Amino acid sequence: MDLESLRREYLRGGLSRDELAEDPFEQFSAWMQQAIELEIADPTAMTVATVSKDGQPSQRIVLLKHFDERGFVFYTNYGSRKADELNANSKISLHFPWHTADRQVKVCGEAVKVSAAESFKYFTSRPTGSQIAAIASQQSRVLTSRTLLLNQFESLKQKFHNGEIPFPDFWGGYRVEPKEVEFWQGGEDRLHDRFRYLRSGDASWSIDRLAP
Ligand SMILES: Cc1cc2nc3c(=O)[nH]c(=O)nc-3n(C[C@H](O)[C@H](O)[C@H](O)COP(=O)(O)O)c2cc1C
Repeated sequence: MDLESLRREYLRGGLSRDELAEDPFEQFSAWMQQAIELEIADPTAMTVATVSKDGQPSQRIVLLKHFDERGFVFYTNYGSRKADELNANSKISLHFPWHTADRQVKVCGEAVKVSAAESFKYFTSRPTGSQIAAIASQQSRVLTSRTLLLNQFESLKQKFHNGEIPFPDFWGGYRVEPKEVEFWQGGEDRLHDRFRYLRSGDASWSIDRLAP
């Protein structure tokens, strides 16, 4: 397979310092809005990287469900591999691969669990099937057959068909509090634009252009 000849130019235009917001959340908000308008598939899908106790990185996609000046929030199973790794090492990195916009955003920071009240609020907003699936699946554990999962799903569906689905204590959100956020815009001849925001105080950020 000839992969070496697969290439394209990034011609959507550059990014300059004077068009950047002073705060990365504001900048992220503008880019997320544009990603949605461009109809990028799953604009909120982000790769989440964690590192195990022995230094082995691991990644997976999750969906961003909320962001504000406190950080970026996603929801998952607190017994999953990612959660185990975050228990031992809360350092985390997020990555948004917005190919259609010739853009990527990288976030590095620390993950903290959101409050149970915040998780509960989001959990109850999900469709019933998703709520039941969250309870039925022991995420990241070995599953000997798909039938076992389907049986578990069906029996929980029967059990809760008339009432409220209980909020599981093993499921909830993480908020990623960023220390660093990088915005990357592809450029012609691989002369891309990169700007990195570094948290320099409690609420202030320094911005540097990085070589592509
Ligand atoms: C588009 C997409 C969205 C996903 N969204 C989530 C999510 O929001 N939360 C989640 O726990 N897993 C989500 N997953 C599944 C994860 O990629 C992953 O398989 C799962 O969280 C287990 O990861 P772990 O074993 O590394 O903990 C998503 C997968 C894809 C492809």
